[in-house]
Amino acid sequence: MAYVLVTSLLPGDALHRLAKEHMVRVLTKEETLSEHIKEADALICLLSDPITKELLESALHLKGISTYAVGYNNIDVETATKRGILVTNTPGVLTESSADHTFALLLACARRLIEGDTMTREGRFQGWEPSLLLGMDVYGKTLGIIGAGRIGQAVARRALGFGMKVVYHNRNPLPKEVEKELNLTLVPLNDLLQQSDFVSLHCPLTKETHHLLGSKELSLLKPTAILVNTARGLVVDEEALVLHLQEKKIFGAAFDVYEKEPALTKGLETLENVVLAPHTASATIETRLIMADMVVDATSALLKNEIPKNLLNPEALANSSRSWYTRND
Ligand code: DGY
Repeated sequence: MAYVLVTSLLPGDALHRLAKEHMVRVLTKEETLSEHIKEADALICLLSDPITKELLESALHLKGISTYAVGYNNIDVETATKRGILVTNTPGVLTESSADHTFALLLACARRLIEGDTMTREGRFQGWEPSLLLGMDVYGKTLGIIGAGRIGQAVARRALGFGMKVVYHNRNPLPKEVEKELNLTLVPLNDLLQQSDFVSLHCPLTKETHHLLGSKELSLLKPTAILVNTARGLVVDEEALVLHLQEKKIFGAAFDVYEKEPALTKGLETLENVVLAPHTASATIETRLIMADMVVDATSALLKNEIPKNLLNPEALANSSRSWYTRND
């Protein structure tokens, strides 16, 4: 029986399933990972848990980490790899829920839904008015997608239904048949920022994408533009963005993620032209249940020396003292 440390309870019964095979300990809010990691054979963590070099170096028995997320910028994968610790994530399953959420944010911001909801609840709706809460059309506009991986492409697919022209910026161009199917045009970042009515971020957070949109880039946006960030907060210089929003240099912005998450950059909370979601892009019952199954299956596999699905660092296999096998089914 192995010792599996879990940093939070997960929806559904996947952890119970794991507890039938292994000793599963879920940390309480008062307990810290650094106190308990020493003895753990496997770790199931969240995107908000910093899995640092120091933490990994103190994890003397750790064989694998399964993160309950697709993004893994919180994990020092390089150190994990050197130490032969396998790291897995949950790609694919949250693509559609995240793309739906992106569109929900985009529409909510364009059509000022939160302001309208607040006004109506507070009894300030006093009847139909020609100029009440005028927003932006979405249909037929230009959408700029930064990061055209699974989620970026799923957003582009939805944009087809809105008759949008979609331009994208990506590290590598997509295959021609994908560009054709989704009616996507590759453009340099600055052109995308200048042309787009809506800009949606879907790139991972890396050294290269840290503050990809700073003051200089934000100033290229149209005064009518809306920026949607469901990627990672640090991709945008939020102080610069707050200034742009305060000075109404763009129409609005919708956030699912924040630079200092869960704290808000000063000034953000008082702005009316923003929509603020609490990092819930993948938060549907269906998606989160499958994600729980995925982290449990990956953990269960690696504890049996079976190479888990969605392994982010296959190089770690060679650095581990175990012999690994691939399950053929
Ligand atoms: C992830 O899984 O990385 C996403 O941020 C979830 O919304």
